[in-house]
Amino acid sequence: MSETAPVPHGLPMERDAGPFDPPRGITRLREARPVSPLVFPNGHEGWLVTGYDAVRHLMADTRFSSRQDIGILHVPFETPGMPAATEPSPQVPGLFISMDPPDHTRLRRKLTGAFTVKRMKQLEEHISDIVERQLDEMARLAPPVDLVKEFALPVPSLVICELLGVPYADRENFQVNSTKFMEKDVTLDEKMAAYGAMTTYLAELVTRKRAEPGDDLLSDLARHDDLSIEELTSIAFLLLLAGHETTANMLALGTFALLEHPEQLAELRADPDLLPDAVEELLRYLTVGDVFYRYATEDIELGGETIPKGSTVLVALLAANHDPRRFDSPDTLDVHRKARGHLAFGHGVHQCLGQQLARIEMRAGFDGLLRRFPTLELAIPAREVKLKTDMNIYGVHELPVTWTETAR
Ligand code: HEM
Repeated sequence: MSETAPVPHGLPMERDAGPFDPPRGITRLREARPVSPLVFPNGHEGWLVTGYDAVRHLMADTRFSSRQDIGILHVPFETPGMPAATEPSPQVPGLFISMDPPDHTRLRRKLTGAFTVKRMKQLEEHISDIVERQLDEMARLAPPVDLVKEFALPVPSLVICELLGVPYADRENFQVNSTKFMEKDVTLDEKMAAYGAMTTYLAELVTRKRAEPGDDLLSDLARHDDLSIEELTSIAFLLLLAGHETTANMLALGTFALLEHPEQLAELRADPDLLPDAVEELLRYLTVGDVFYRYATEDIELGGETIPKGSTVLVALLAANHDPRRFDSPDTLDVHRKARGHLAFGHGVHQCLGQQLARIEMRAGFDGLLRRFPTLELAIPAREVKLKTDMNIYGVHELPVTWTETAR
């Protein structure tokens, strides 16, 4: 195993290889040492895992605990105010993305029935209607418009609101606060304030649903007497956040990527049957959830290295999905590729619960957008598109687009 010096200053995250490829420093590290030591700015020693095989093994091994940070809070131990790096984080009741079995199993089991492929298939037509309605509205506007605001964010927000039984009219609360929440450079206090604003709202909502259940997913959950209001609130928070942020970024960044690869876009327009494969490839190629955290509960061998107990481990899903040992020409977007086996939805017990829903939304979304806007193009030079390097989920802040004609 070749030795490389620990990365001195956290992760090299700047997108210096272009808007879609992993940062060069990460790629170099993956080639030299796919499981490599990392020193955080405060001197705490951690590990960075970038190789496909190692990432897959790691995510299947529950000795790598998800109680490393407060889950999707993405507050690593290095943040002032967080507990010492050698202890698991305190658990937030209900926030099962940052729990380990058996606590995680108990809660996830209550939701798997609601997210089966069959259930999601039943929603397909309805999701297509939501997409069409949103595109009708967009077609009425005079271009240029921001695709994030007019399409990529509303579609998954409408879908998850309806599924959960959250009034879409209240979207201001969760869209503003979840954005704040996903920012990297906010203080722990600001993050907690955004979390507090969302959970105060959701606690009232689930309390009402427990008293008067309706016909929606949160009401179904509220019927479970063994779930506390606090747990219901965190589950609602997790589903609402995960349900709109990730898919919105995939729709917007995916459109940007297609517009930047006109030959791929032309092939997709010519043969819409390619769409399911194209969606998998966009998931792999873009991997908007590029980095996740784990914590080693004991000394663990991985990829020929020993990760000592208590280490913070950064799992680089984007780097893994661009590993040439797993995917040929990994930095090339190829809508014909069979990209199944990618890790964009994670792997193991925490593998994305909403992946079927996300797939349906993306298929319907790209299908509708490309069909209705045959002349869609960027309204600004590509280099001026504002990238979300400052957020925990990657994407674009805005995507100004224009067109000369629309179709039905
Ligand atoms: C977990 C990605 C859409 C709900 C995850 C994980 C990833 C991911 C990588 C694993 C996290 C970990 O191992 O720590 C994505 C991407 C999406 C997407 C790329 C869109 C393209 C959705 C949607 C929902 C959702 C639409 C809807 C409800 C969840 C939940 C978990 C999760 C609840 C936690 C599962 C657990 O801990 O057992 N997602 N997700 N996601 N995702 Fe998604």
